[in-house]
Amino acid sequence: MFTSCQTATKQTQTTPTTPTTSANEIPGRKWWKEAVVYQIYPRSFKDSNGDGIGDLRGIIEKLDYIKSLGVDVVWLNPIYSSPNDDNGYDVSDYRNIMKDFGTMADFDELIKGLHDRKIKLVMDIVVNHSSDEHEWFKSARSSRESPYRDYYYWWNAEKGKPPTRYSLFDAKHDAWKFDEKTNSYYLHIFSEKQPDLNWSNPKLRQEVYDIMKFWAEKGTDGFRLDAFQFVAKDPNFPPFPEGTELSLMNYSMGEHIHDYLKEMNKEVFSKYDVFSVAEGAGRNMQDAHDLVDEDRNELSMAYAFEPADLGKFGGYKLTEMKKVFSKWDKEFAEKGWLSIFLANHDKARLVSVWGNDKPEFRDYSSKMLSTFLLTMRGTPYYYNGDELAMTNGGFEKMEEFRDKPLFNMYEFEKSKGGDLTKFLERAKFEARDNSRTPFQWSAADNAGFSTAKPWIKIAPNYKEINAEAQEKDQNSPLNYFRKLTKLRKENPVLVYGKYTLLDEASESVYAYTRELNGKKWLILLNFTDKEATANTGLDVSKAKVLLGNYAESSKDGKLKPYEAVVFELN
Ligand code: GLC
Ligand code: CA
Repeated sequence: MFTSCQTATKQTQTTPTTPTTSANEIPGRKWWKEAVVYQIYPRSFKDSNGDGIGDLRGIIEKLDYIKSLGVDVVWLNPIYSSPNDDNGYDVSDYRNIMKDFGTMADFDELIKGLHDRKIKLVMDIVVNHSSDEHEWFKSARSSRESPYRDYYYWWNAEKGKPPTRYSLFDAKHDAWKFDEKTNSYYLHIFSEKQPDLNWSNPKLRQEVYDIMKFWAEKGTDGFRLDAFQFVAKDPNFPPFPEGTELSLMNYSMGEHIHDYLKEMNKEVFSKYDVFSVAEGAGRNMQDAHDLVDEDRNELSMAYAFEPADLGKFGGYKLTEMKKVFSKWDKEFAEKGWLSIFLANHDKARLVSVWGNDKPEFRDYSSKMLSTFLLTMRGTPYYYNGDELAMTNGGFEKMEEFRDKPLFNMYEFEKSKGGDLTKFLERAKFEARDNSRTPFQWSAADNAGFSTAKPWIKIAPNYKEINAEAQEKDQNSPLNYFRKLTKLRKENPVLVYGKYTLLDEASESVYAYTRELNGKKWLILLNFTDKEATANTGLDVSKAKVLLGNYAESSKDGKLKPYEAVVFELN
């Protein structure tokens, strides 16, 4: 099969379709359900001024490229002032732009440029914590009497040691940091430079809503709430039941989270035509529904990690993936709305984790995965660079990584005498820096990303994998992605259609139908590097092929390695 795949003419097949489903027949339509979200990691997208760091003017330069993808929404990772302990997820001023990224004038130009092209903008709101360099925190730590003291969580040392709290990013996993000046500990669920904001304080909450309104007034069309599961805490910090101190279950979805979201909805979301999504969807299905069902007046859609988290070092099982995606779809078939994603800035690369990044399979498997993401029910969140089949970064040693929490984890591993070689092996595969390497624009120096050496290494394969080369190739992953966004845009069946899983037991093929108002489409995806048979019970020999990632799409139920086909059955 390996040979037949190589000899196949690399050509993509596509037939134009006429939308037959009338818009009026679909209840609950929303622009953000029909949108394809394109996530941009600004630090690595395009550097405009030769300092090796991507910036807002770099994104402005590439607006026509973004438009050409056929995406409707851009989600920008944080662009606010930040000392960059966690690449912008440590905000020191919520109303200003990070120096590395440019100015507010650049931001205004960027949002206008997007809107002129009918693309909306989603901002990342990081309010579980601020930076320790935020003015609020500087004041709060200066004195117990500071008016900002209660914007954060403190444990006065005279009460003894605080009850155990777990930090995800701390080298000792200790979420309490002793601060000498006021003889107290402050809480940081992430790094010690990311002190947690005290959401039980109504003044703090009002500050947050004002910040959100500031960005909504500027024309922002949506908000992604970073680490929001963690905001609601009991400010008395009761000890957790013994043995569960490290369980994240204890930390997420605290008692008042729904009150906060309802308040935020009333204060912010309801006043603008914006959509909202939080990172994570709670501990279980009930939580997820409570966060997003229409009658709850909280968030617009759920961004659940369970499916994407299956993609791990050591691989994943296709039947597991199908089971989990199908479970979520079923749960949300009648109420609520989902996000569909497999990659983002906290994960390694789509094609490396979920597909096959060997040269002979890379393009096929990448197109197959894009087909999956764009033909599921839910709003696709597509990560920048995946449209080129950009791979993991090719990191070889610890010094090449940039992500500070990774180094803290390394220290932790070392402190407990762990296997550092294994740690590195894992990091090479799944460290989040893998998806943060510079966007590969061309085969020129620094991949056309910058005129200077970039802040993080470039994946060594940029001469082969880059946007310029793919523009010229009709069958490139890039051009295939464009066909997919067009297909989705023109066919509500892909957005709203009922999803039915077929051939559940297959470890090779993911097959499902989408149905809406008399239309029935079948999607066949081979997730392996071998030929595979799809046992769907459906005859596709006469079906119309709407899109496929091979020159000739298989119509006999047998799929070539990583083959993807979208059929119209009636
Ligand atoms: C979220 C972000 C991640 C960040 C963390 C702390 O998980 O996606 O990048 O490091 O929150 O803000
Ligand atoms: Ca720059």
